[in-house]
Amino acid sequence: MRPAAQANARRGFVLREVEAIAYQEIESQDEVRVPSGVNEFDRVLGGGIVPGTLVLIGGDPGIGKSTLLLQVADRLGAGGSLVLYVSGEESDRQIKLRGERLGISAKNLYLLPETNLENIFHEVERLKPTAIIVDSIQTVFSALIESAPGSVSQVREVAHQFLLLAKNRSIPVFLIGHITKDGSIAGPKALEHIVDTVLYFEGERHHNHRIVRATKNRFGAANEVGIFEMTSAGLIAVDNPSKLFLEERPRNVAGSVVTACMEGTRPLLVEVQALVSGTKYGSGRRMAQGVDQNRVSLLIAMLEKRAGFQLIGDDVFVNIAGGLEVDEPAADLGVVAAIASSFKNTPIDPQTAVFGEVGLTGEVRGTMQPAVRAREAQALGFKKIIVPASNSTGLERLLGMRVVGVKSVEEALSELF
Ligand code: TYD
Ligand code: MG
Repeated sequence: MRPAAQANARRGFVLREVEAIAYQEIESQDEVRVPSGVNEFDRVLGGGIVPGTLVLIGGDPGIGKSTLLLQVADRLGAGGSLVLYVSGEESDRQIKLRGERLGISAKNLYLLPETNLENIFHEVERLKPTAIIVDSIQTVFSALIESAPGSVSQVREVAHQFLLLAKNRSIPVFLIGHITKDGSIAGPKALEHIVDTVLYFEGERHHNHRIVRATKNRFGAANEVGIFEMTSAGLIAVDNPSKLFLEERPRNVAGSVVTACMEGTRPLLVEVQALVSGTKYGSGRRMAQGVDQNRVSLLIAMLEKRAGFQLIGDDVFVNIAGGLEVDEPAADLGVVAAIASSFKNTPIDPQTAVFGEVGLTGEVRGTMQPAVRAREAQALGFKKIIVPASNSTGLERLLGMRVVGVKSVEEALSELF
């Protein structure tokens, strides 16, 4: 017996013998993934559900978390899983009502309106579900802990218990949490370390589309997104997101340009809008929505210095249409082009798209996946695309589209106007 085990045995309990395993002796196994039946959901998870995984689904109240998971529950059940939906927020009647709106039959789905963790585990023991959904983690509490439901220690303990449950039974557990991206409701942010995968709902409630983004994924690429549309029959996968985001684009209006972004492994065309107008106050304001405000300030300073734009006395507003959030430097050239277009009061040809990172000296730098971006623009009927010079090789042969490589913002602007 080992020293630690001896000591423990004296105290009245026994420890399992532990031994390190040689890396080479571990058998590699093919990853098994179970499709949820909701394609976009599988995509964010990295290609289906990994058994024994603990997934946190966060987002603002009313954004569609319960709706999505009820749809997933229905599809999982249809695929042969026995799904337990634990609800601490809504009664079984309310969930049924939502299900009726969604038009789901939800075979093999069991509802449990309960908030006591021990009771929930008791029912799990009896029912032996093969997938569990907890709506929401904030409402569940363990009677073994003194602090209030929703407090950091409760939420952590509950999540930890569900983690053990998921691993021990090798079943997926989905925890819904009311969390905003900046984690302004304290506590659940601490969960991110415990769970395997974190999915966040993005987008605004005033828009119909919903973006579910994987911000952490132990079993797949982070930053992958699923794009849905909220309809009267629940969340429906969007087949052609670029088309959706360009639908309401104004043509031949100054201050608008299309840029090609990457959202996870998928290209996405979005419209960048800018408005430059004389300020009523001393020095101009800079405001940005959907792109990083500091990045925009930096690009404005660059335009002043390198392209000779006088923007000191102007307010500059930049917005990504459709409430989308873009946080890659490849969108820089789009921001610069939109601002320049509004400043010059000259529209950019609506059949031209741009992408590229812009440096402080006004140089245009290469980005990853240029071909994927360019092909998306081609697929949506764009006739010309302005790209970083270092990215342009190999792109010349795109059918029906002219590819222009530029080394600097100056070059880009003279190509645009
Ligand atoms: P819900 O899933 O309850 O949000 P969460 O669980 O994140 O708080 O979604 C609520 C919103 O979705 C509500 O405003 C109504 C809307 N909705 C639809 O538009 N269509 C539908 O089919 C359903 C079920 C909800
Ligand atoms: Mg809900």
